[in-house]
Amino acid sequence: MMNPRRIGILTSGGDCAGLNAAIRAVVSRAGQLGWQVVGIANGTAGLLARPVESRILDRSSTDSSMLRQGGTVLGTTNKGDPFAFPMPDGGVLDRSDEAIEGFRELGLDALIGVGGDGSLRILAELARLGGIKLVAIPKTIDNDLGLTEVSIGHETAVATATMALDHLQPTAASHSRVMVLEVMGRDAGHIALAAGIAGGADVILVPEIPYRIERVAEKIESLRTAGRNFALVIVAESVATEAGEAVTMSRSGGTSTFGGIGHYIGARIGEATGAETRVTVLGHVQRGGTPEPRDRVMASAFGVHAVDLIAAGRYDRMVAWRNREVVDVPIADAIAGYQAVDPQGPLVRTARGLGIAFGD
Ligand code: F6P
Repeated sequence: MMNPRRIGILTSGGDCAGLNAAIRAVVSRAGQLGWQVVGIANGTAGLLARPVESRILDRSSTDSSMLRQGGTVLGTTNKGDPFAFPMPDGGVLDRSDEAIEGFRELGLDALIGVGGDGSLRILAELARLGGIKLVAIPKTIDNDLGLTEVSIGHETAVATATMALDHLQPTAASHSRVMVLEVMGRDAGHIALAAGIAGGADVILVPEIPYRIERVAEKIESLRTAGRNFALVIVAESVATEAGEAVTMSRSGGTSTFGGIGHYIGARIGEATGAETRVTVLGHVQRGGTPEPRDRVMASAFGVHAVDLIAAGRYDRMVAWRNREVVDVPIADAIAGYQAVDPQGPLVRTARGLGIAFGD
């Protein structure tokens, strides 16, 4: 087995809290083994730049203050897939050869990629084509990667969404209003479900459980009848309208993201119940906050284990957290096993047991 001397690390896809803790852990563990760590800037965009954007990371530049720092010191991108790189004329170009060449220019023995399902799919394909020795660390506030109970960033996003409900409740009660909170979660409702339970929502809407406004209105009416003058509704951004249409927003740069379903739900509740409604769209504050302790701990465990996998010569593996253990699973299986909210799962049962409605 080759003994690695120089490994690379990049963060790819949307940022989240805890990425810096993972970078720090990788540098620390690699340092113990006498290896050099090269940080690649801006995810795969750094591999496409010439010269390749990178810098040596050592323990003096990755101290414990990184535990407290949101975002990623390496920078990241969730655009510019090297297999379908967007061109100014609106077309796309396969630049995967350039990304692989960029990796080779750095003279690296192995690569640690920190990413969600989209990024890991790209990195795994680059690794396959370029013979790159890859180990992955899961991160996504959406927590929808398969085969791991935890991905870096989810806990902090849930804490932020819970805090938003904590802040909305007193003003809702003061004004006798229905407050609708729209949270992130591209395709999966994990943030809405967890924060809804933790923050005392009355209604949780997630894409995995079809709803009807009529049923949501019934819940709000029943609270009113019981003497409650306010209600809290949390909705995942990827919930569709009753007609099944996704609600998206165009962004500068020609992309579009989910956004706006909260306003639709708020307006429909107002029509159906006559209640005064207000809508808060939480957005990127869920991504950039100070990492919660759990995200710091998971990121640290993942970073150390990722380096240990390389030391053991075990590649194409993603580190994961299962049954109170750091384990590792094939990257391909983790990507294939997309993790939606289970409508029959323990948290949905918990919410129902608390009297929270899903509008079904
Ligand atoms: O996947 C992470 C995520 O934060 C989603 O929850 C959200 O839909 C998306 O990224 C937002 O992307 P952007 O940062 O491009 O607005």
